[in-house]
Amino acid sequence: MEQIWLSPPHMGGEEATNVAEAFTSNWIAPVGPHIHAFEQQIAQYVGTEGCVAVNSGTAAIHLALQVLNVQPNDVVLCQSFTFAATAFPIVYCEAKPIFIDSETDTWNMDPVLLKQCIEDCLQKGTKPKAIIVVHLYGMPAKMHAIMSIANQYNIPVIEDAAEALGSQYENHQCGSLGNIGIFSFNGNKIITTSGGGALVSNNTYWLQKAAYLATQAKDATPFYQHQTIGFNYKLSNVLAGIGCGQMQVLNDRIYSRRNIYHQYQMALANDERIAFLNEPANCYSNRWLTTILLPSAVSGANEAIRKTLAAQKIECRLLWKPLHEQPVFQSYQRYTNGVSNQLFERGLCLPSGSNLSESQFSYIIYAFKKALDAVC
Ligand SMILES: Cc1ncc(COP(=O)(O)O)c(C=O)c1O
Repeated sequence: MEQIWLSPPHMGGEEATNVAEAFTSNWIAPVGPHIHAFEQQIAQYVGTEGCVAVNSGTAAIHLALQVLNVQPNDVVLCQSFTFAATAFPIVYCEAKPIFIDSETDTWNMDPVLLKQCIEDCLQKGTKPKAIIVVHLYGMPAKMHAIMSIANQYNIPVIEDAAEALGSQYENHQCGSLGNIGIFSFNGNKIITTSGGGALVSNNTYWLQKAAYLATQAKDATPFYQHQTIGFNYKLSNVLAGIGCGQMQVLNDRIYSRRNIYHQYQMALANDERIAFLNEPANCYSNRWLTTILLPSAVSGANEAIRKTLAAQKIECRLLWKPLHEQPVFQSYQRYTNGVSNQLFERGLCLPSGSNLSESQFSYIIYAFKKALDAVC
């Protein structure tokens, strides 16, 4: 059996043609027709006014914070249960993250803690500059509650939908529910440009500002003149060609990932040692990764299983270590309830690639059950 990866790239067919076209037309640059097409396709799919394609999801978050004018010492409220790239850009801005723990229904930002944190900040005379909520593993956060709190206190919301392209909350696409949304097209995401990202919004001023900042903040002068600090964040036209090809197969990829989740659920249905993350009634997850929880009574079961499967060429991964537990973020405030710590201790991500074959799936299930019996 060949190595089974957690979430490998899965090309559709048109990508190589588009890349060849970029070569033929010599648009080997961070400008060109594929970029424009890719941006239009994303905005249309998500249902936003526009889109700015950039070279990573991290860059998109950084731009979102810049667009919202986040300054040194500003406070930004950030989901704690996520990948560090959600919060790194807050520190690039020299602002201060406050980490907010999760609720158990979606594993995303807990609206109760969010409200408590905002009220405490206001009482101390600080109004948070932005909220970053994440739709982790593709599962939409409780956006209704989060947006009504954010609107009540007039704080803009950035949706980190890096893992959630195609996920929906109350029939609206993730990324279009807050004030600014971001996506990642890193190699492990549901669709990929090898590396890339996007910022979406309904606010045309913010979209223009993001595009301007992403291209070195050039004034409209015949020479290079700059009145503000810019960034070199635009996506390459070559990679946008891959993105256009991938957009054609996005719905197929979502179908496959959701199907893989259901297969795992069926294969392990009668096993009381395992809990799945169910989809709340108003949520439609792209099921980027299938995640499970193992019994809390057996400490280290997730890592033991991960190691056993790795030896059999099956890549699994522990869930994200909460950011409030990361050494690099120890000096920042946090609002915790123990949920993300529990998830980290008990959770495991299973191979979820949309190109997983039936024989690979059977091999994983066989190896997983054996590994589970050995530890629990
Ligand atoms: C939740 C989350 N946010 C942000 C990012 C950053 O995206 P990128 O790797 O494209 O910079 C990722 C993925 O890598 C992610 O999973």
